[in-house]
Amino acid sequence: MADSVAFTATADRRVRYAEILPQIEALVAAETDLVANLANVVAVLKEVFGFFWVGFYLAKDGELVLGPFQGPLACTRIAFGKGVCGQAFSTESPIVVPNVDEFPGHIACASASRSEVVVPLFDAAGDVAGVLDVDSDRLDDFSDVDVSGLSAIAGCLSKLI
Ligand code: SME
Repeated sequence: MADSVAFTATADRRVRYAEILPQIEALVAAETDLVANLANVVAVLKEVFGFFWVGFYLAKDGELVLGPFQGPLACTRIAFGKGVCGQAFSTESPIVVPNVDEFPGHIACASASRSEVVVPLFDAAGDVAGVLDVDSDRLDDFSDVDVSGLSAIAGCLSKLI
């Protein structure tokens, strides 16, 4: 396993997502344990993009439960359909929130969070299994570039779930 991730710190996010995707694919191909892989994926995302908060919520017993993450302490359980994460899960669609204060039902885990992007995570059978959530302490910090990049990363995790 590579002991570090290679990326161009000065490049824009689109380039950095393209740089890290094959490295994440190689990382997860070398390990079968889901938690170990999710933990390394959030570590890579934190290192490469410096996100304020990045982590997984996984569906367990009818709700979303906090998985591996990097950043401040977070809510441990989110009902399906609730908050940005629950809505992305229930609609099986990515959500970009430019200003969390304007999103009805946003769940504030950390008061410093200002904008957010959530993409659904699917299992090998194609059923929604959780979400990948990224928060920023800046307004309007996410775009389609993040949706595409994060969805591609979520996609390469499907075979493990
Ligand atoms: N803001 C999320 C909750 C999770 S935290 O951001 C880590 C939501 O509304 O679902």
